[in-house]
Amino acid sequence: MTPASPEVTPAQHAALRMTSISKRFGPVQALRDVCITVRAGTVHALVGENGAGKSTLMKILAGVYQPDTGAIEIHGRPQSFAHPAQALEAGISMIYQELDLAEHLTVAENIFLGAEPGGPLPFTISHKQMMARAAGLAQRFSFDIDPAAKVEDLATGDCQIVEILKALRHHASILVMDEPTSSLSEREAKRLFEVVRRLRREGLAIVYISHRLEEIIDLADQVSVLRDGALVHCEQAARLDIPKIVHYMVGRELTDFFPTRAAQVGAVLLQVQGLSSEAGIRDISFEVRRGEIVGVAGLVGAGRTEVARAIFGVDKRTGGQITLDGRALNIRSPADAIASGIALLTEDRKRTGLCLELPCSWNITLPNLDCIGFKPFLKPAQENRLAGDVGARIAIKWSSPAAVAASLSGGNQQKLLIARWLLANSEFLIFDEPTRGIDVGAKTEVYGLLNRLAEEGKAILFISSELPELFGIADRLLVMRRGRLVGNLVTKQTTPEEVMHLAAVEEKT
Ligand SMILES: Nc1ncnc2c1ncn2[C@@H]1O[C@H](COP(=O)(O)OP(=O)(O)OP(=O)(O)O)[C@@H](O)[C@H]1O
Ligand SMILES: [Mg+2]
Repeated sequence: MTPASPEVTPAQHAALRMTSISKRFGPVQALRDVCITVRAGTVHALVGENGAGKSTLMKILAGVYQPDTGAIEIHGRPQSFAHPAQALEAGISMIYQELDLAEHLTVAENIFLGAEPGGPLPFTISHKQMMARAAGLAQRFSFDIDPAAKVEDLATGDCQIVEILKALRHHASILVMDEPTSSLSEREAKRLFEVVRRLRREGLAIVYISHRLEEIIDLADQVSVLRDGALVHCEQAARLDIPKIVHYMVGRELTDFFPTRAAQVGAVLLQVQGLSSEAGIRDISFEVRRGEIVGVAGLVGAGRTEVARAIFGVDKRTGGQITLDGRALNIRSPADAIASGIALLTEDRKRTGLCLELPCSWNITLPNLDCIGFKPFLKPAQENRLAGDVGARIAIKWSSPAAVAASLSGGNQQKLLIARWLLANSEFLIFDEPTRGIDVGAKTEVYGLLNRLAEEGKAILFISSELPELFGIADRLLVMRRGRLVGNLVTKQTTPEEVMHLAAVEEKT
C-alpha cells in the first residue's frame, strides 16, 4: 500500500461555496445573507453562540432545509438539494449534532442503514459482511467499538462514534461535523482529530462546528464566526486566539469566566455508602455537604453517569445506602427520587430528557406539576408565564415558551432541561455534563447558576468531562475509574495531572 501523500495540493480549490444564504423559521431569522467558501484539503471551523445559525447553515447544505435565498456551488458547479439524498449524492456527508440512531439495532446495522451489503439471495442482507465492514471501518479510523453491540446498550460517547463512522462510510468530498466531540472523552476526541487531519490530507473539505474553542485553534485552517444569523468574521485560524474568537462570537469581552465561590459549606446533606448497581458501579462512598459543589471526573465509561443513575433510581441498586439530611432513603424510581428532593439533569437530552415534539413550556413544567403546587389542570397562559420566567433567568433563545422543543438550537435545548430543575425545589441536584454543547456565554451563566444554588444551601454533584470547568467550580473532586471511586480530592490541593493520572492509569493484568 502506498501511504497517502502528506502534501496539500498547492492550489486548494473551493470545494464548497455558499453565497447569500438566508433562512427564516416563522418569526426567527435564523440566517441572513451568509457567504462561506471552504477549500479542499482544509478544515473550516464554524463557531458562534447557541442559536447563531451554525446547524441551520449546514442543514441547508445537507438538503435538510431549503434556503429562502442564496446559492450553493460544489466544486464550482451550482447545486440545489431538495432532499438529503441528493446532497449525499453530490458528495456531502454530515455528522448531525443531535444523535439520531436506531436504538434497537446494532452498531453495524446503524452504520450501514439503507446501504446494507446484499446477501446471497436477492432482497437479503449479508450480516456477516456488514459486521466485517463495520469492524474494518472502525479499525481504519482506530475507534474501539463492537459492531455487534446494540445501540441501546451503548454509552453516549460510543453513540457519537457510531454517528461518526456512519458519516465516514460515505466517500464524501465534503464532510460536515456538527459538534462531533460533545460527548467524547479527551482520548476519543484526540483520536477523532487524527481522523480529521488524515481526511484533510486526503483532500476532503471539512466543516467543523464546536463550542470547544481549544479544538478550533488546534484543528482549523480557517474560522468563520456567526452571530445572530449573520457572518461577522472570517479569518485564518493561525491569526486568531480564543479571546479573539470569543470577542467576535459574543460581541464583548468575557472576563470572570468562573464565579467567585462564596457559599458557606454546611452540614452533610447527601451521604452515599457502599453504593453498587446493576450497571456496574461498585462500593461507592462519599458525601456532599450543603453549599458544596462536588465534581465527578473520569473517562467515558468510568461509571460517572451510573452513579447518578443509581442515586436517582434509574438503575437498580444492588447494595449500599443513601441518606439525605439524615434520613435513610429507599429510592426505587426517579419519582421516588424527585419526591425525596433529588434532581438529575441528564447528559443526553434527546434520549432521556426532552420531549422534542412538545412545547418548551411543557418540557419545563411537566415533571414539576406537583412540586410547584399546581394540579395537572394548568392553564396554558400560566404555564407559559412560569416557563417564560425561568427561561429568562438563563436566557433561553426561543420564539416563545409555546414553541416546540425541537425548534430550539441544540444548546438552547440543553438550557430547557436546566430550566426544568430550576422550578423543582430540590435540595440535592446532580448535573451530568450540563455545559455540553452550550456556548461560552451560556457556560458562565450555568456556572453562576450552580454557584447561586450552592449559596442557597443546596448540595450539588457536578459530572463533567472537562477538567478546566471542574477545577473552576468544584470544591472537591471525585475521580471514577472502571466503576469504582479512586479519588476524593480537595480541588485546591490537587492538579489536573493528578486527576488525569488517577482516571486513566491502566491496571496491569
Ligand atoms: N426547525 C426549526 N424551526 C424553528 N426554528 C428553528 C428551527 N431550527 C432552528 N431554528 C432556530 O434558528 C436559530 C438558529 O438555530 P441553529 O440550530 O442553527 O443554531 P446553532 O448555531 O446550531 O446553535 P447551537 O450551538 O445551540 O447548536 C435558533 O434561533 C433556532 O431556534
Ligand atoms: Mg447547532
